[in-house]
Amino acid sequence: KLPTKVLITEVGPRDGLQNEKQPVSTEVKVGLCERLLAAGVRQLEATSFVSPKWVPQMADAAEVMARIPRPAGSRISVLTPNMKGFETALAAGAQEVVIFGAASEAFSQRNINCSIAESIERFRPVAEAAKANGLRLRAAVSVAYGCPYQGEVPVESVVDVSLRMRELGCDEIGIADTIGVANGGQVQRVLEAVLRELPADAISGHYHDTCGQAVANVLASLQVGIERFDTSIAGLGGCPFARGATGNVATEDVVYLLHGLGIETGLDLDALVEAGQWISAQLGRRSNSRAGNAIAAK
Ligand code: HMG
Ligand code: MG
Repeated sequence: KLPTKVLITEVGPRDGLQNEKQPVSTEVKVGLCERLLAAGVRQLEATSFVSPKWVPQMADAAEVMARIPRPAGSRISVLTPNMKGFETALAAGAQEVVIFGAASEAFSQRNINCSIAESIERFRPVAEAAKANGLRLRAAVSVAYGCPYQGEVPVESVVDVSLRMRELGCDEIGIADTIGVANGGQVQRVLEAVLRELPADAISGHYHDTCGQAVANVLASLQVGIERFDTSIAGLGGCPFARGATGNVATEDVVYLLHGLGIETGLDLDALVEAGQWISAQLGRRSNSRAGNAIAAK
């Protein structure tokens, strides 16, 4: 039985824009966040507090945070890989912080410059500080379905890292197909293994669309009881440390699917389509959302 309600975390301003080669102005980032919040987005991943040497596009994190609106009931999330990121995120008024680890050693090294075990120790004080300050804590488990450096990733590694994230106190753990190689069968096998250890309301699906399977992977996840997804407006995105990865599954496409299934999201599809067309125009290219482009052309 499918869920009646789904929580969408909009990650466009973060996962979507972090990989942009051209500089995107703070103005445009804020304009995007405003449009997404106006479309009903209630969990918004707005930016990352990471090293600007590693991800230059997110260097204006504090300024973005200072300028985005905070409608009632909304939650602004940001990525915080370490205490330095956490302290600045807290000062900037983040309501949720995301620690991000990986299910493969090779990806952990490339993305956050440490081993999986070291990353957990680095996350521990962040998790404790988040809890002490009343912030919600979310985690990402990258390369759960395949690693660009290591290749296949055993299901046990995904379950193991997810459990370690839960032990740190994470309220939600995103199982991520960083490079967009998963298919529905694999998604159900991995999620079923995770769901043997953790409750469904603590798990979310994070899909990139490299192989064109991301919407199908959302449906496959719904079928095993997942009710939380990360999506990116206009299908923006890609991780700078994941060779060949394309954007995330487009928010408009997922909402089109969910509403068609009678699943509530609290989101206004037409307003999302407008936001997706707007940001694509700002970036000077066509949106990657199939539903968005079709609806906009009507
Ligand atoms: P490091 O070089 O090992 O860290 O990087 P360090 O502690 O040695 O610090 C080096 C320099 O960075 C120092 O500056 C620090 O002050 C600075 P310097 O003294 O050289 O001038 N620094 C910071 N500056 C600002 N904010 C901070 C911060 N921390 C250190 N928080 C580190 C380790 C984790 C910091 C680095 O590797 C990093 O920032 N990585 C970010 C990687 C990233 O953002 N990746 C993309 C997001 S993850 C993703 O997209 C996947 C996801 O979507 C799920 C999926 O699809 O898989 C979530
Ligand atoms: Mg991602």
